Amino acid sequence: MSRRKQIYEGKAKILYEGPEPGTLVQYFKDDATAFNNQKKGTVTGKGVINNRISEYIMTLLNEIGVPTHFIRRLNMREQLIKEVEIIPLEVVVRNVAAGSLSTRLGIPEGTQLPRSIVEFFYKADELNDPMVTEEHITAFGWASPQDIDDILALALRVNDFLVGLFLGVGIRLVDFKMEFGRLWQNDEMRIVLADEISPDNCRLWDIRTNEKLDKDRFRRDLGGTAEAYQEVARRLGILPEGGPRDMKGPEVMQ
Ligand SMILES: Nc1ncnc2c1ncn2[C@@H]1O[C@H](COP(=O)(O)OP(=O)(O)OP(=O)(O)O)[C@@H](O)[C@H]1O
Ligand SMILES: [Mg+2]
Repeated sequence: MSRRKQIYEGKAKILYEGPEPGTLVQYFKDDATAFNNQKKGTVTGKGVINNRISEYIMTLLNEIGVPTHFIRRLNMREQLIKEVEIIPLEVVVRNVAAGSLSTRLGIPEGTQLPRSIVEFFYKADELNDPMVTEEHITAFGWASPQDIDDILALALRVNDFLVGLFLGVGIRLVDFKMEFGRLWQNDEMRIVLADEISPDNCRLWDIRTNEKLDKDRFRRDLGGTAEAYQEVARRLGILPEGGPRDMKGPEVMQ
């Protein structure tokens, strides 16, 4: 790994130069942060599980025609992705009230929303990722009205698909965050899903008990974060037979 050029180190992942132009290697760390880096810790094995869950979800999305940056998983902690120009927005889709929506609007956590709601936040850690509207997005040139239309359509499609996928394994998709990027191919630009989809950026509640199976366990000091992530992987049928210990060693994919 050390011979590879590091492009960026974020809170949860590291990006390295990929083997071919236009590709990157995304390395998933065990580091966990919350409240814009005010709370820090590590969740042992989280990177391995997020790499696997994100691979699984992005592969299914590619199969149903949702364009993503995902190419293939390389090993336990790394995946090969297409390099995109990240649109500086966090796109959140909500199905059930929780987190900042509950705080902001005084809607109790767990309230089913009348319909799925999409929110945009400007990706700027120094500003605490403030919520923005389409007006801000177009006025400041972060995305065009056409880009926003494409993002909304993709976000809702991903949401519908994931709601069903998780429901099938007894999990309620309360809300989740996506990032999108611009990918140029032969002078044509396409908006594709980038970053990751994992329990780090989804709220996932057990359908019967409402037990939290996501990063809120870490944020709210509930304990059992690693076990919750493993449970999500297990239910999706992607945890190796022998349990998480089997996920430690390197595995070369082709
Ligand atoms: N396909 C891609 N091409 C280029 N950059 C990407 C791609 N997918 C994800 N990224 C970027 O890679 C970084 C992943 O690292 P990480 O998630 O740890 O960042 P972060 O600490 O959350 O910071 P940020 O505020 O930049 O998201 C993010 O900045 C994300 O926007
Ligand atoms: Mg991130």
